[in-house]
This record gives sequence, C-alpha cells and structure tokens, in this order.
Amino acid sequence: MGLRVGVLASGSGSNLQALLDAASSGRLDARIEVVVSDMPDAFSLERARRAGVAAEVVAWGAAPSREAHDDAVVDVLRRHQVDTVALAGYLRLVTPVLLAAFPGRVLNIHPALLPSFPGLHVQAAALEHGVKFSGCTVHFVDEEMDHGPIVIQAVVPVRDDDTPESLAARILREEHRIYPQALQYLAEGRLRIDGRRVVVDPPSPGSGSLHNPAVKF
Ligand code: GRF
Repeated sequence: MGLRVGVLASGSGSNLQALLDAASSGRLDARIEVVVSDMPDAFSLERARRAGVAAEVVAWGAAPSREAHDDAVVDVLRRHQVDTVALAGYLRLVTPVLLAAFPGRVLNIHPALLPSFPGLHVQAAALEHGVKFSGCTVHFVDEEMDHGPIVIQAVVPVRDDDTPESLAARILREEHRIYPQALQYLAEGRLRIDGRRVVVDPPSPGSGSLHNPAVKF
C-alpha cells in the first residue's frame, strides 16, 4: 500500500509537479490525494487539476487564528484520507494542530542546507554570506520553522557569477530529485527518527567529498 499524500502549496508548485510525475511514473509509491493551498490563485492548484487531483483552497485570513486555519486544513486532509503531508512551497508556519493530526508524517523542502539559512530569501542570503556550496533539505516538520530532523540534503556549488535566481534554479533541480526520494524512503518504511537524526535503513550512503573551487591536493 503506497502513501496517501496531501500536498500543501502556496505558489507555483514545481515541487508538487515533481511529486505528481514521480507518483504517476511509478518511481514513487504514493498517490497525491489532494493539494491544499492558502492562496486561491496559486498555480499549484492548476497543476493538481491538470493531473486529476483534488484541489482545495483554505484561504489565508478566513480563520480567526493559525490554529483554526490548520483545523480547516486537517479537515480537508482527513476527508481525503491522507496519511502523509508534504509541504511544497507552503508559506505558512504550521501549528501543533496539524502536527498532532499527522505525527511524524509531515515533511518540508527548504532551498538551503539547513541549519544554515532558514526562512525566506535564502539564496540571496547564501550569496551575501559568500558560501561556496548551497543546496536543499528535506526534513520532518516540527514546531519551529525549517528545523525538524533532516532526511536528505543535496549540495550544489555556488558560482562567482550567480544571482539569487540562477542559484535558486540550480537548487530547484535538486529539490525535484530529493523530495520524491525522501517520500519513497518513507513509503518503503525505511525512515526512523532518532532524536534529531533520521536513520535510513538499510543505509543508502551518497557520493563522496565535494570542493569548490577545485582542490588539487
Ligand atoms: C522551493 O524552493 C521550496 O524549497 C521552497 O519554496 C520553493 C517553492 O517552489 N520552500 P515550488 O512552488 O515548488 O515551485
């Protein structure tokens, strides 16, 4: 039995698209049951409709509090019998209401190598800081922003001529690879959370060291 995924997305939804594509091609053992957006005109809703997936709006500001907003989101997710929640460009900090409804089953993707550069405008922040690598992180969600246990990270080099946009595009290509993979590990029952660490069992180590600029020693 594959995952029954609800995706929360505020924006363009390219990560949602990567999940839809991975699920429909069979690489990801999951069904995207519903896409929920806080933004009625989000392109992610259109992507859902095109894929024949339910698209629902829980408009931001309609509920009296963040908790009441999440109550409404949980209602939608439950109605679609979701067992896993993937935040994909979701601009809202989720509350314990949502986390308690899906304990250990809420994931997020962030376009930086956490714990560096949490929050917004992170590509500009990475360039300003002068880091030589950035990347992206899939992590379990906890009550703090961009904070929970890390499932997978991908690293990309930062180039001297990068703009926030060129760096974001390089990172996004990796986001589209690691998010389906993280969910597939979950689908296979291979993820165990041990404090801050996520153990993949059996282990599946990635490739070796990276240097930027090159190292000749
Ligand atoms: C991605 O960079 C994601 O990591 C961040 O917001 C962006 C959303 O892009 N949380 P998209 O809507 O998936 O295209």
